[in-house]
Amino acid sequence: MNKSTNITWHDAGITKEERREQNNHHSFVLWFTGLSGSGKSTVANAVAKALFDKNIRNYVLDGDNVRFGLNKNLGFSAEDRTENIRRIGEVSKLFVDSGQVVLTAFISPFQEDRAQVREILEGNEFLEVYVECPLEECEKRDPKGLYKKARSGEIRDFTGIDSPYESPANPELTINTSTQSVEECVQTVIEYLANRKFI
Ligand code: PPS
Repeated sequence: MNKSTNITWHDAGITKEERREQNNHHSFVLWFTGLSGSGKSTVANAVAKALFDKNIRNYVLDGDNVRFGLNKNLGFSAEDRTENIRRIGEVSKLFVDSGQVVLTAFISPFQEDRAQVREILEGNEFLEVYVECPLEECEKRDPKGLYKKARSGEIRDFTGIDSPYESPANPELTINTSTQSVEECVQTVIEYLANRKFI
């Protein structure tokens, strides 16, 4: 639903295709999804560095970071998570329009929310990357001590504990950070992109 009325769409003077041509690569979203502590940010940032070294324009949008600014008014209720992902989807679309690759690292626990983002992008612009890692392993890592707080009841609505995570049914890629090293995960992603001639 659009609250604004009397608004008109203005076409850009420079097209997405022209920007891609100048950049010499496709523009798209690598959407990393997975539990807290699964390694989304670590892998996304390592892929970003590999792309940067290949002169591929890219930017990482990270859950924690975006919640310091753009999404500082959102919490972790189901409704707020949906709004979080909707906004990130729209921001990602702008990046894709600008000819860049965007890597997002959000838990994005709901299948429907991820499907909505896929919906607003074109067919070859949304690549879902499932960062698979068993809950027990994420909890063992507990890099921020949040699982401990969730188990003791200090934090409510924590993904995997008392808030659900819906695994992707049909992701473009799955990486498993409990069995693969970060370097292997990066290689998997880069090879996939090269095979599809996106980079
Ligand atoms: S979501 O579900 O996509 O809207 O979440 P996201 O924006 O990715 O934010 C996840 C990070 O927020 C911290 N955090 C929590 N995560 C899950 N549940 C609860 N209740 C929660 N409270 C704080 C946590 O640091 C998450 O970061 P990652 O990198 O996923 O561990």
